[in-house]
Amino acid sequence: MIWDFDKLIQEADKEIAGCSDLAALEALRIKFLGRKGLVADVYASLSTASVQEKPLIGKGANDFRARVIQWLEKKKGLLEHASSAESAQVFDVTLPGIAPALGREHILSRIIEEICTTFEHLGFVVQDGPEIETEFNNFTALNIPADHPSRDSFDTFYLETPDPDNKNRNLLLRSQTSPVQIRLMQQFKPPFAVVIPGKVYRPDAVDASHSFVFHQIEGLLVDEDIKFSDLKGLLTAFCRRLFGEKTRMRFRPHYFPFTEPSAEVDVSCYICDGQGCSVCGRKGWLEIMGCGMVNPKVFEAVKYPKGKYTGLAFGMGVERMAMLKYGINDIRLFLENDVRFLKQ
Ligand code: DAH
Repeated sequence: MIWDFDKLIQEADKEIAGCSDLAALEALRIKFLGRKGLVADVYASLSTASVQEKPLIGKGANDFRARVIQWLEKKKGLLEHASSAESAQVFDVTLPGIAPALGREHILSRIIEEICTTFEHLGFVVQDGPEIETEFNNFTALNIPADHPSRDSFDTFYLETPDPDNKNRNLLLRSQTSPVQIRLMQQFKPPFAVVIPGKVYRPDAVDASHSFVFHQIEGLLVDEDIKFSDLKGLLTAFCRRLFGEKTRMRFRPHYFPFTEPSAEVDVSCYICDGQGCSVCGRKGWLEIMGCGMVNPKVFEAVKYPKGKYTGLAFGMGVERMAMLKYGINDIRLFLENDVRFLKQ
């Protein structure tokens, strides 16, 4: 015998849709899916079906069964909802509420907070500055020469050229947080100690370790008798708080136009304690920031009296710190808003 599956499906649909309470729905479930139900009958007929009929009946039975299960489930949900809505008319005000799912702080905000708080404990004040800067603040005042490659339009997002004869008035998206040093020095007289978190922009092709926007934290301390030993002591205290008390430090000579002398700072790898592992690329050291003593040319640019002040400065990439600290291997994850990443 060949079953008319279209008709079976239509009738089951009508009966389930017309069902008005949970008891009747259970009766329908038994009627269709029970041990002696309709679906069982259809499967039983396979034993007497011809070779040609068998696959048709088999497939029809599977589809019919799947659809009946689906409709029963759906209807059950609807009936349950209706009955709870009915009983909800007697409202129990003592029941606990349903807590809405709250998001959580973005991992970058958390790292910025952690780093800034660590510096606050060391006596620093948190400041910020605009993301749109002048060419003067971003480059010239920081002693970056006019022909420096970082000034190229391939390396900096320029916005406007209001005065072609005066490059310093060009506007750009800051490529580093260092220009905020200039703003603060123009505004305040030493002594002061500030940390400056914020976004910076560079027209880099995006890949696992490059992004057109990322975050930096800049530090600046200016007073009358600041020495390189102050810089070493400060950054050592900072790194030990962030990476653990056993952390060892390495200051490698480097060049930055706005500091002299300058150094790059490495910390002993907090995973392998300097033995060499996959996080530190078998080197035992992690490179975490640039630093140095403020170049007198920068003091000159902000018109501080000659020879009066000395200062220390440093700058670090926040994404890099987060990637090192949490073992994240792709910078794009910070920007993609993938909830699975953000929830971790
Ligand atoms: N501005 C530098 C950069 O973007 C980072 C930096 C290095 C900042 C040394 C500093 C510093 O203040 O002293 O690569």
